[in-house]
Amino acid sequence: MPPTLLVCSETDDLSDLVAPFEAAAAALCPGLRVALWSPQTSEAELASVVAVAGWFVPAGLPARLPALRLLASIGAGVEHLLRDPALPPAVPVTRIVDAEQARGMAEFVLWAALYYHRGLDRVQAQQARRQWHMPPQRPAQRTHVGVMGLGAMGAEVALALAAHGFRVSGWSRRPRTLPGVCTWAGHRELPEFLRPLDVVVSLLPLTPETRGLCNARWFERLKPGAAFVNCGRGEQVVVPDLLDAVHRGHLRGAVLDVFEHEPLPPESPLWDAPGVLVTPHMASSASPEVIARQIVADTARVMAGRAPANAVDRLSGY
Ligand code: NDP
Ligand code: OXD
Repeated sequence: MPPTLLVCSETDDLSDLVAPFEAAAAALCPGLRVALWSPQTSEAELASVVAVAGWFVPAGLPARLPALRLLASIGAGVEHLLRDPALPPAVPVTRIVDAEQARGMAEFVLWAALYYHRGLDRVQAQQARRQWHMPPQRPAQRTHVGVMGLGAMGAEVALALAAHGFRVSGWSRRPRTLPGVCTWAGHRELPEFLRPLDVVVSLLPLTPETRGLCNARWFERLKPGAAFVNCGRGEQVVVPDLLDAVHRGHLRGAVLDVFEHEPLPPESPLWDAPGVLVTPHMASSASPEVIARQIVADTARVMAGRAPANAVDRLSGY
């Protein structure tokens, strides 16, 4: 069997990605076969797999692929691939890095910042009570937006917010410099970063360090009346602590785009929490064509004995 790129998820139907992967393979890696994983995929087929393009790949599957040279996330995040304890240590794990996706993220977060800055959350609540009250208008410079995570997404977002005129701060693991953005780094600087913010945005990857970061202590560090926008990962938030902060009115509200369980289960209290806007992991995604081209190009690289372009550091988890 020819070398195979296996498109694989145990949670999502990825059949729409097969055609873009076939087109990318024909253009960039002739001879590469594309197959869609199912629990019935034969051992002979698995033996030909050189690359897996996936999202929640079944735990233990990569260890059953003797020819595997690349494990590629079809998204920007990789935590769903790194959770497998049997991941072969020598196989590089990659992710999508796309300027268009980052611009889409900047658009989404700019909207969320404007939603709070222009008081649209309050106007929405007023409408439900048939009230007419014009919120005060303030220049963007009077609203301070903080961005946690200054990587491919967060840096673009912080720059777009600053270009709009917001006062912007950013927080990362290691010190970063961005024009027009006041930057902070590491856990020691977190309280000082959070203290003055009107809106705080998470664009952090899910790692052992960021899991549960937004807990009661973290919410207490925010100024009363601050708002939260989560585009990182749901597991970064301790949901009962967030609910407590909104119910007490300490947190003005939240735009939540990501959740521990997606789709968000109908019984989740987040659906009805006051001031919480639930969006369906829609902040920004790369196009199927970009995803396929990047992963097939990386497959061609590893098949030629070269390093892939978008590898993550498996130790730090992003
Ligand atoms: P990057 O890897 O490019 O950037 C990650 C950033 O987070 C870096 O600035 C990094 O710091 C910082 N960071 C990581 N760990 C910590 C920590 N412990 N403390 C402080 N800062 C930390 O990722 P992307 O920007 O491409 O994507 C970020 C995440 O956004 C993804 O992992 C995914 O979860 C989410 N996402 C969500 C989407 C959606 O539609 N909702 C779409 C795309 C992504 P440093 O710079 O020092 O390394
Ligand atoms: C993600 C993505 O990682 O959509 O969330 O790319």
